[in-house]
Amino acid sequence: MKWVSVVLLATGVFVGLSGCGTSKTVLQQDEAAFPQAVHLYQNGCITCHGANLQGGIGPNLQHVGSKMTLQAIEHRIEVGSGPMPAYAAPGDAILTPSQIQALAKWLESQK
Ligand code: HEC
Repeated sequence: MKWVSVVLLATGVFVGLSGCGTSKTVLQQDEAAFPQAVHLYQNGCITCHGANLQGGIGPNLQHVGSKMTLQAIEHRIEVGSGPMPAYAAPGDAILTPSQIQALAKWLESQK
């Protein structure tokens, strides 16, 4: 009966791999509609919030638009919190007001 488990294992690996090839990350899905925000996020936010907004050092942002208003998201990006940089304050990670708005608008669409 050993071959049965080998076949099952091989099928599982195949399904797993093909799944990875076809499923897009949240960033890939949203790139066309929110190119600027996705680009900025890839440069500055992905390390803490993840390629699927799933979180890591920072919290999960997949439903942040249901939790926070546009203004609250903008404010959070401007002033930061804990390890998150304050992007409106002079420093390495500074973003312009229009960049912050683009990010907040995109995140607000994550319901
Ligand atoms: C160094 C890690 C780090 C980076 C880089 C970072 N964040 Fe965060 N972020 C955090 C942490 C930690 C929190 C939670 C802070 C708290 O609860 O006080 C947070 C909170 C947030 C929140 C509020 C989420 C909530 O549920 O309260 C938003 C929105 C957010 N970040 C967006 C961004 C955006 C946009 C960027 C890039 C411009 C960014 N973050 C970059 C660590 C980071």
